[in-house]
Amino acid sequence: MADDERRHGGGDYEPGTTDERVGMQALEERGLDPVELRERLIDAIGAEFSTYYYYTNLRMHLAGHEDYKEITEDARLEDRAHFELVAPRVYELGGHLPVDIGDFMGRASCPHAELPTPMEGEGVDPSELDAEGILEVLLEAERCAIRTWSEVCDMTHGKDPRTYDMASRILQEEIEHEAWFVELLSMERDGEINPAGHFVRGEPGDAPYSTNRRINDSA
Ligand SMILES: [Fe+2]
Ligand SMILES: [Fe+2]
Repeated sequence: MADDERRHGGGDYEPGTTDERVGMQALEERGLDPVELRERLIDAIGAEFSTYYYYTNLRMHLAGHEDYKEITEDARLEDRAHFELVAPRVYELGGHLPVDIGDFMGRASCPHAELPTPMEGEGVDPSELDAEGILEVLLEAERCAIRTWSEVCDMTHGKDPRTYDMASRILQEEIEHEAWFVELLSMERDGEINPAGHFVRGEPGDAPYSTNRRINDSA
């Protein structure tokens, strides 16, 4: 049997070309626009990167609430894992991260998770910050992440198994994150017990579903 007679032996491109990606053509053949998906992914991981930064700031202002700090740290590091998991996919789809980080942040698909107290002069007055306000910001950031990755799951389901797998693993963690902050805010603000069913991650930012392969991972 000649090579081009084999079921998947060739495609409608010049063998050896680097101008075409079969990994993108395969999506088009299934009715998914790979460029639209790629741009949506850049927006989504812009939000993950933004959240990673802003959660650092939120965590700093939870001093005295060590349990809240620890959970915020888990969510913070897992958002970094989400960024790192999906960033290579942007390149596989023929794209690249924005050259300018300001552009990247400008197109993030979620609002920045800023400290809840209005800025006074050049800084924030820490005495006006309370855990309740910070937990509300954290909760709404997680909800935006759930909406973001649910949309990616919907776009890719049955069409792009690779991106779907990434998005669904991230979504599992975002749903957990929402439950964590529902529990904490319920008690902090309303004095209500509203369990998440969560105890602790094994390590800070464990990312049990979404962690990327780590350099120097001895496991
Ligand atoms: Fe995330
Ligand atoms: Fe999250």
